[in-house]
Amino acid sequence: MTRAVVGVLVALLVSACAPAGPTDDNYIAGRTIYRTCAQCHGSSGEGGVGRALGTVRETFPDCDDHIEWISLGSEGWQQTYGSAYGATNQPIEGAMPAFDSLNRLELAQVAVYERVRFGGGELADELATCGF
Ligand code: HEC
Repeated sequence: MTRAVVGVLVALLVSACAPAGPTDDNYIAGRTIYRTCAQCHGSSGEGGVGRALGTVRETFPDCDDHIEWISLGSEGWQQTYGSAYGATNQPIEGAMPAFDSLNRLELAQVAVYERVRFGGGELADELATCGF
């Protein structure tokens, strides 16, 4: 094999192994935090115990609400705001835990990840909406 061919093969291998998606630090941190969420929401946001995340930007047009939802979880949200959540008035069924162990930065990072990766938002827009 010529050196050029080996070079192309190595480049292909490296790009195949690199995780897809933006390389922004906050997005990448959000992807790591999302591992905790994937057990219920699925690694592709397809849902399971937790709701599918494809319409998360319709549920929470305002990222602050998205962040607060993650922090409070179903029960905390219900105690604070009543039995529905989001702009779409989803009835709360009650199985989303509170993630009050995450700080404001981490909450915003995982919200950005969900909005971009599953909700189809543009990274720059979602970073801005979520306060970065
Ligand atoms: C133990 C399962 C579970 C885990 C873990 C979990 N969720 Fe959820 N999540 C749910 C359930 C169930 C709902 C629906 C809430 C309800 O009906 O009370 C939900 C709803 C949501 C919604 C609203 C989606 C929509 O459009 O209606 C978002 C956003 C969300 N979760 C984000 C997260 C994030 C971020 C994490 C990780 C930090 C996470 N969830 C971890 C179960 C879970």
